[in-house]
Amino acid sequence: MYALARPLLFRLDAERAHQLSLKAVETAYRCGFEPLLAVRPAPLPVKAFGITFPNPVGLAAGLDKDAAHLDALAALGFGFVEVGTTTPRPQAGNPKPRMFRLPEHAAVINRLGFNNAGVDALLANVERARFDGVLGINIGKNKDTPNERAVEDYLYCLERVYTRASYVTVNISSPNTQGLRDLQEEDTLKRFIGTLCEARERLAGRHGRRTPMLLKIAPDLSETELDAIAEVLSASAIDGLICTNTTIDRSAIAGHPLAGEAGGLSGRPVFARSTAVLAGMAERLGGRMPLVGVGGILSGADAAAKRAAGATLVQCYTGLVYRGPGLIGECVDALRAARRAPAAAASAAAGGSP
Ligand code: FNR
Repeated sequence: MYALARPLLFRLDAERAHQLSLKAVETAYRCGFEPLLAVRPAPLPVKAFGITFPNPVGLAAGLDKDAAHLDALAALGFGFVEVGTTTPRPQAGNPKPRMFRLPEHAAVINRLGFNNAGVDALLANVERARFDGVLGINIGKNKDTPNERAVEDYLYCLERVYTRASYVTVNISSPNTQGLRDLQEEDTLKRFIGTLCEARERLAGRHGRRTPMLLKIAPDLSETELDAIAEVLSASAIDGLICTNTTIDRSAIAGHPLAGEAGGLSGRPVFARSTAVLAGMAERLGGRMPLVGVGGILSGADAAAKRAAGATLVQCYTGLVYRGPGLIGECVDALRAARRAPAAAASAAAGGSP
């Protein structure tokens, strides 16, 4: 079905195609036609951060910034859906055009700039939805909030979404909000994470539930910066790490006419670096917290590679643009096979049948 729609969608401006696709998924869901879009994968339960995920393949942040299509997207078979990035106040984002497809590279460049309707509108959408699966809410700061006061925006959002989110993602890695990635610097991060973790403890006491808090990092960090982040995380009460956001590096698409467009590059060109960051952080953190692998998953084999690099869960965004919702089941199947593989290998080694 998606193979038929793709050539038409690819004739449109990328952001327009995105909006149209969401509308189509929403309409199909409301009319009960969503089985035509994707076959729901058989369950493959995974436990992480105290949550049982029906399967380990999730929707990455940014596709449904306002949780406006939660039920329809969940019906495609995701094991979890991450909505946002949401900010305290609504904001329009950067001027258009601000999203570009690079089909030769199975990639997207975006500089949307956290366009969203604000955290209250997101929560109203969540309330309206019937969805009762695993919901991640990704939080950020408004463009006009200076970095010295960024933590106030995150605290505000954390407090607002705390009881509705299955987990909260603290996004300090989008390249399209000036200075945001500076929050990843060691001393700043230590203070920032410390403040958020204290707030979370207060909220846990107030509401009688501990909502897991995850950090999402960029792929454009040096080994020294990754060392520092791992140290801060190890000493903190953060529950998990998402590797990675989009990249500002253009070496993988050098010479492409759109390579000069500002923004974050996603899809196939980010896979290698994103997976290397994931593997590096898995090694540094030594099993202290579950990791979520995201960046350039275009096939089931890519999802399995994220697992091999240390991911307990995976997420996709750009892969859905190029492969459609069939990618979800393909990834679940590949992760199921990867889970069986060690058992089969051990059984074969012991002379049993796989
Ligand atoms: C994103 N991504 C993103 N991430 C985030 O934490 N908050 C956001 O608001 C957005 N917005 C966004 C918009 C668009 C158009 C794209 C393509 C991506 C990043 C996304 O969640 C993911 O981390 C990266 O895109 C890498 O994964 P893929 O796209 O290669 O599967």
